[in-house]
Amino acid sequence: MSVLLEARGVTKVFGSGLFDQKRVVALEDFSMSISKDDPSIVAVVGESGSGKTTLARILLGLETPTAGDILYEGVNLQTLSRIERHEFRRNVQVVFQDPFEVYNPFYRVDHVLNTPIVKFGLAKSPTERKTLIEGVLEAVGLRPDEILGRHPHQLSGGQRQRIMVARALLLKPKVIIADEPVSMIDASLRATVLANLQQLKEDFGISVIYITHDLATAFQISQNIVVMYSGSVTEVGDVNRVVTDPKHPYTQLLIGSVPRADPNLQWSVDNLEVSHDIGIKGENYCKFADRCPHVLSQCVEKAPSLYQIDSQRGAACYLYEDSPVVERDAMNSLFVNQQ
Ligand SMILES: Nc1ncnc2c1ncn2[C@@H]1O[C@H](COP(=O)(O)OP(=O)(O)OP(=O)(O)O)[C@@H](O)[C@H]1O
Ligand SMILES: [Mg+2]
Repeated sequence: MSVLLEARGVTKVFGSGLFDQKRVVALEDFSMSISKDDPSIVAVVGESGSGKTTLARILLGLETPTAGDILYEGVNLQTLSRIERHEFRRNVQVVFQDPFEVYNPFYRVDHVLNTPIVKFGLAKSPTERKTLIEGVLEAVGLRPDEILGRHPHQLSGGQRQRIMVARALLLKPKVIIADEPVSMIDASLRATVLANLQQLKEDFGISVIYITHDLATAFQISQNIVVMYSGSVTEVGDVNRVVTDPKHPYTQLLIGSVPRADPNLQWSVDNLEVSHDIGIKGENYCKFADRCPHVLSQCVEKAPSLYQIDSQRGAACYLYEDSPVVERDAMNSLFVNQQ
């Protein structure tokens, strides 16, 4: 298997400078990877502040890791040549949470679609440019005549977000990192944007890293899942196994916290209760220990490795320490269709 994009043992500490008062470990020894050959949707799920956006920004090269590496086709992002960097910028696209922020209110929405065409020299003539733009708008289910020529405030949030997906699609990237792409839009429009993301994989062979705090949509559209807690991976693998039979105590709490039968309840990872006080010793400990009903003495002394529980799932928990340890660069082997 060849790997397209990989985070290997990434740690990101904010505020460790001389004048920063508060030190925040946003990501800790975090690893995940996306295969080059088999497009898939991988959900990264975690509650607010668990490090999801930090991960997205680091994967995009917008932020540098404090420790660890981001590899693009096996090459460290920091050492890409100019040509490789150009290719990376084209092949790794992003769709952020709030589409409004990307738009300049004074420009028509056409501007956000024209920019990458000019930047990457995608069209040789105005006619070719028009065909390209119309093609991607139609690919995400928008009618070009209803969209082009309008200003951002004249469109719905769902339309704006779909234009962002269309924009990412212009470049025919290999992977799209979508950071909470539907959390700012109406529930009624969510389904269409999520369907667009699925379509990217089906029709264009584009992988998607779908970042969300909402387990229900993660379950709906992804094949594989990475559950994060406080900057670390807790459970990872086939989304069906993880959601229907969670093994990590955090995932168990998460999934047990909302009855799945009630469609009106948001199946969200936020607002779980804090449980008990345990004596934390040192920096390297299981971050879930103070909420864990199964906490053991070693949990507060050293963070657990990721243990392989079955063929397509791993959990970072001492309850499974008799299982084999998954090495950082072997995490893909746990994913469905990604070996
Ligand atoms: N530039 C920064 N400077 C200092 N701290 C930061 C910075 N960016 C993020 N953090 C901190 O890092 C942690 C992780 O933040 P991050 O934005 O990655 O979380 P998130 O999972 O995306 O949360 P949300 O679901 O609310 O978007 C938080 O504690 C946050 O306050
Ligand atoms: Mg975020």
